[in-house]
Amino acid sequence: MRTLRELSLVEKIVLTGFIVMVGLGLLAAEAYTYVVLQGADGKPGISIQDVVVHYYGNRSSSKLQTILPAMMIMAHVPKGEQPKMTAVVNHWVAHGESKGYYEKNVQPLINASCLKCHSIGMPNIGTFDLLKQQAKVDTGMPYSAMLMNGMIHLSTLGVIFALAGWIFSRTQARQGIKIFFIAVPFIAFLLDFAGWFLTKSNPHFVWLVLIGGVFSCPVVLLGMAISLYQLWLLPRSVHANPEPSPR
Ligand code: HEC
Repeated sequence: MRTLRELSLVEKIVLTGFIVMVGLGLLAAEAYTYVVLQGADGKPGISIQDVVVHYYGNRSSSKLQTILPAMMIMAHVPKGEQPKMTAVVNHWVAHGESKGYYEKNVQPLINASCLKCHSIGMPNIGTFDLLKQQAKVDTGMPYSAMLMNGMIHLSTLGVIFALAGWIFSRTQARQGIKIFFIAVPFIAFLLDFAGWFLTKSNPHFVWLVLIGGVFSCPVVLLGMAISLYQLWLLPRSVHANPEPSPR
């Protein structure tokens, strides 16, 4: 079996095209995950709590209340006015979301700060009914969305991991290292996927999602970087070829 170093120029170009393009795609996916998760618990930056909120939800509070602190920052609500807005929203939700209280106290604040973004092309929150939907208790990602995400991720990542693994199998790494780089991403993503569903019923399972996330795409990306190095930059002297080189 030829190693990556021994492939023809045309074969190297094909594999390099795959690694560069799909590698960028995986990096974009990681960045997307970060952006989607980072504000989930209402605090900036990413934390375990963000992942829990994403799948399990925050059942002691509604989505509106969870996201409000981050949204008030995005809406440039002055620091001094933020506690008042929080109190008004909490009072409205805690007292059964009455229409009267909404019109008198909640709506003016939303109109003043939030609708510049939340009108066209964004979840609309400009009416009583729409805002009330956002004030329901948050139970995290719905099962239908998990199945849809699972379908897309399992099939695309399955193919990507297989191709990246096939390329890695032609590096000059030792057998144990090859098995690690090829098998671990598959196992990790399956743990991640199982973790979505388990975390939805019990937030203690969030560690499955974390382990799965750390050892799936990042390991594939590292393996791709090693493959790329061996395709083009591996020095001749390291190249273990018992037969004399024809050149
Ligand atoms: C600078 C633009 C911007 C402003 C201002 C803004 N938001 Fe948002 N809001 C967003 C974005 C972006 C999202 C994520 C949209 C998505 O999930 O597709 C979001 C999501 C939300 C959601 C969740 C919607 C959903 O269905 O997932 C709620 C609730 C919300 N904002 C409330 C508010 C409130 C209340 C205010 C006013 C204090 C506000 N937002 C101000 C940009 C903004």
